[in-house]
Amino acid sequence: MLDLFNRFLIRVLSSRFARRWFAGLSSEERATALLQFWRGANTGLNDKERYLLVRKAYDDRRMKNYALQRSGRYARIYGFFRLIEELGPVQGDIVECGVGRGISLACLVYAVSFFRLEKMVYGFDSFSGFPPATVQDIGTRVTTVDKPPTGWGDTSPDLIRSIFECDRAIPESLLRAHDVRLEIVPGFFHETLSNNLPKRIAFLHVDCDMYESTKIVLEHGLPRMSPGGIVIFDEYHDEHWPGAKKAADEVCAARGLKIEYLAVAGRYGIRIPQ
Ligand SMILES: C[S@@+](CC[C@H](N)C(=O)[O-])C[C@H]1O[C@@H](n2cnc3c(N)ncnc32)[C@H](O)[C@@H]1O
Repeated sequence: MLDLFNRFLIRVLSSRFARRWFAGLSSEERATALLQFWRGANTGLNDKERYLLVRKAYDDRRMKNYALQRSGRYARIYGFFRLIEELGPVQGDIVECGVGRGISLACLVYAVSFFRLEKMVYGFDSFSGFPPATVQDIGTRVTTVDKPPTGWGDTSPDLIRSIFECDRAIPESLLRAHDVRLEIVPGFFHETLSNNLPKRIAFLHVDCDMYESTKIVLEHGLPRMSPGGIVIFDEYHDEHWPGAKKAADEVCAARGLKIEYLAVAGRYGIRIPQ
């Protein structure tokens, strides 16, 4: 019965009408609407399942009706939970470089909360879009150098904070049971990373698409990785962003680090040797 109800909710939210309605909302309204949906869907699901459901819907802003199964996108959510759980005993904090509108960041925050870890979460982003592209980025997405690729300008630290504020306002919030210290650091990486990264990092999520961005993140981030820590690349093997793989290959080869496929998250990454 409960399962039927949840399927019904997913269907309703997947309808063309819902998609149109959703597309017309501001980012803050979307976050609120989805959190309300989460509350509505609180029918026999445990915290993690509810979280996965709402984040799935949020992740899928176009509201396509993916079943709640291990699709490529769901794998990232599921995988982040599994990987963060593993990192409990590893020293250091959780860092994301490339926050965008906070989808994966929210997943990291919720995983830390769910497993009640005493780890801070850091989110770095310009919050004003990309820096200029270089020749290494030329591919299906970037065709001209020296100009910033379009996209990701419509976000802000306040939007990200509002997602968690909306959440804390509801009684079922995971964050009420175990809150997470979150540090949002706005600005381009070359201006922010050196002074604001934590001393030790347990988990580094590299989701910044471009060659120079990936390179600078790895150059600053890798020396701080704890033994047993994990680095995940969102765009390794993404034909739209060839620069991300080039930068990861170059920096890791120079440091003797092996990049491997981490099936649990459906992403490539590095397990830092113990
Ligand atoms: C693909 S989006 C991140 C998506 C996000 N992780 C999610 O799950 O939705 C890439 C982000 O990287 C940021 N970015 C790329 N290069 C950057 C740089 N050098 N400094 C700061 N931000 C950068 C962009 O502003 C953009 O928001």
